[in-house]
Amino acid sequence: MLTNAPRGTKDILPEQISGWLYVENEFRKICAAYGYEEIRTPTFEHTELFQRGIGEATDVVEKEMYTFTDRGNRSITLRPENTASAVRAYLQNKLYADGNLVKLFYIGSMFRYDRPQAGRLREFHQFGVEALGEKNPAVDTEIILLAWNFLKNLGLDELKLKINTVGCPACRPVYRQKLQHYFGEYLDELCGDCKSRLNKNPLRILDCKVDAGKEFMDEAPQIETCLCDECREHFARVKDLLTAANVEFEVDSRLVRGLDYYTKTAFEIQYTPLGAQSALAGGGRYDGLVEEIGGNPTPGIGFAAGIERILIALEKQNLIPTAQKNLAAFIVTAGSEAEIHGFKLLNDLRQKNIPATMDFAGRSMKAQMKQASKSGAKFALIIGEDEVSDKSVTVKNLETSAQEKISFDEVVTKFI
Ligand code: HAM
Repeated sequence: MLTNAPRGTKDILPEQISGWLYVENEFRKICAAYGYEEIRTPTFEHTELFQRGIGEATDVVEKEMYTFTDRGNRSITLRPENTASAVRAYLQNKLYADGNLVKLFYIGSMFRYDRPQAGRLREFHQFGVEALGEKNPAVDTEIILLAWNFLKNLGLDELKLKINTVGCPACRPVYRQKLQHYFGEYLDELCGDCKSRLNKNPLRILDCKVDAGKEFMDEAPQIETCLCDECREHFARVKDLLTAANVEFEVDSRLVRGLDYYTKTAFEIQYTPLGAQSALAGGGRYDGLVEEIGGNPTPGIGFAAGIERILIALEKQNLIPTAQKNLAAFIVTAGSEAEIHGFKLLNDLRQKNIPATMDFAGRSMKAQMKQASKSGAKFALIIGEDEVSDKSVTVKNLETSAQEKISFDEVVTKFI
């Protein structure tokens, strides 16, 4: 027990770090290109933020939150996502003050109590962006393009971009009612979850995995028929802009997303070989969220992507760059006096950020030389009795085996 991490969590081991850093760095680069700035919000928030922000009737809030009472008797929740927190931070820190569009990105761990499987964890990592303060559909498209180009540029193929519109408070109630009426006729055939969704959140029935294949699903009313003019025009513009950007997409009228805050545009990017957990990224517009959390009406849109899933996809296609071993020097010493010289040299090199190491186990010189070759270091810096007496170091190039003796004081500069 003590040596097992909690179910649904994973250690990220040194050998895996290169993949993580690669994905995170590429994401930082594209965010810089699109003008998004990093924000880091707390890992936990007041529970109410997520209840209000994400919506009481969502699976995330109903079943998946890590909620506890702290010692001060407050209800606290480990963040299941970062959008509500970003909006809270936007309001609390008055990021809206200069009236410009605020463009934020984040990278961090999120927590959802769900049944773990490949690509689904209880502690997982997302990166994402949020743009606050602009209702123009060009921003929707910018965000979709950021997500799409990011994944494409990593080299992933078999990516699918699905988009939809989920309407707004003006037109969605009409659609809700239509769905309630329609699915009400098939009540007996709905799965247990969808029976309770019928009243609380009938749109979610559309993307239920259990009921997906059932015949009545194909005939379900489509939101198209209920959209108000504003939502219809907004969606048409997003599609035109995506087409202008030469990005292929599929309109999926069943794509409704699992969080309540969405209005108008919703989208997902799937990597089909991943099967059940194929969504690498998902997002959409949330024009009511800022107000819900206590601010003035402010449009917003964003997306988040799961880093673990992206890494699984990259691994499948062999696209994770191998870690570069960049050890510059391995110091080899013989005897106690030489070890003191070696230790000083080690410290001097590291002070200049030159990656270096030495043996601390008192091994023979031969064993140390073997270690040096295995370590991937470029040079062995050898200090024996002779070198101690003439204050020098024998520098051996471990690739070419070429050797030269140089004075102790010059060694560090050789590496700079
Ligand atoms: P989401 O669809 O819940 O959206 O999550 C986004 C991505 O996070 C998913 O597509 C998936 O790759 C990853 N993900 C979600 N749950 C798990 C899990 N249990 N294990 C591993 N990966 C997971 C959001 O979170 C919204 N906040 C996105 C957004 C930002 N919408 C607007 N702005």
